[in-house]
Amino acid sequence: MKIAVIEGDGIGKEVIPAAVDVLNAVNLDFEPVPVEVGYGKWERTGLAMDDADLELMRSCDCILFGAITTPNDPNYQSVLLRIRQELDLYANIRPFRPLGITMDIPYKPAKPFDIIIVRENTEGLYAGIEDVNQNKACSTRVVTRKGCLRIAKTACKLAKGRGNSITIVHKANVLKSCGFFRELCIEVANENGVRYNEMLVDAMAYSLVLKPERYDVIVTTNLFGDILSDLCAALVGSLGLCPSANIGDKYALFEPVHGSAPDIAGKGIANPLAAILSAKMMLEWVGEFEKAGLVQSAVDNVLQKGLRTVDLGGSASTNDMVKAIVEYIRSVQ
Ligand code: NAI
Ligand code: MG
Repeated sequence: MKIAVIEGDGIGKEVIPAAVDVLNAVNLDFEPVPVEVGYGKWERTGLAMDDADLELMRSCDCILFGAITTPNDPNYQSVLLRIRQELDLYANIRPFRPLGITMDIPYKPAKPFDIIIVRENTEGLYAGIEDVNQNKACSTRVVTRKGCLRIAKTACKLAKGRGNSITIVHKANVLKSCGFFRELCIEVANENGVRYNEMLVDAMAYSLVLKPERYDVIVTTNLFGDILSDLCAALVGSLGLCPSANIGDKYALFEPVHGSAPDIAGKGIANPLAAILSAKMMLEWVGEFEKAGLVQSAVDNVLQKGLRTVDLGGSASTNDMVKAIVEYIRSVQ
């Protein structure tokens, strides 16, 4: 199997090699295909990603992606948004579950929770239809029937293997496009025999902080899913613990929820677990469930041993974490 490996910028260059080390440790038979895209490339060449990069990604089975710095420059087009749209990676699946509830992390939830955010990933306010002049800036929010039906189906499919219920998050009291999303999600839930409830996105932010244990599968539009993901990452204890999958009908990309973290980049202190758990989601996607289980036990094991990176209140380096994970995997193989 060929995996396109995109380190990207900042801590992407530290956490993706860590994830590759772990894939090697579980003896995955794969060929890494490095693809260089991102801000660094843009600074050097004036292009953050070209068509040949996309072709290289298309020639691989899936993509492991770090993070990319996005400057506040109107000429810069977001690389990740383009990849998601070009490869039609319409479902962004983001599981949030505290890793070991007794963990001594800066924030500790009162009760265990196990949430999956299913975020529409190709349209909404991130459709890329923007018009800016001196007096006005407009971003068009696109919500299509096809987009709603397929994301709602993905959420219902995930719900079937869990609590058989979804929470539809929207702002239909104000936005007609949300009313459209809501109705189609309800239609799909009813067709699939999945229970549903619904929340307005602002109330959802409040409720998630106070009672995350109430929620299971959450389905929502692009921007709302983006924002609620970071909120859930804080509930888990750190962005450095949260993996994600971007899935389409043909391609898939796996990436940590976090960005390039320029404030800590180059110091060797980034938490590699989000990237390693993203590689675990990749293993599940290719059907390597045993290897995926091994990665999860290794992560649980090092956390139980008390190893903590700075974001979790400790002093372990990126390398300390990876070394401990690889050692654990070798010890049980
Ligand atoms: P960020 O996620 O990079 O960082 C937010 C905070 O969390 C920072 O204090 C950072 O140090 C910390 N953090 C994140 N990941 C960590 C890890 N693995 N270990 C320890 N601490 C970690 O978000 P921010 O600062 O808003 O964005 C930085 C850059 O990343 C921007 O240019 C932004 O556009 C880009 N970005 C890229 C994403 C992607 O490529 N998927 C996603 C989010 C942001
Ligand atoms: Mg985000």
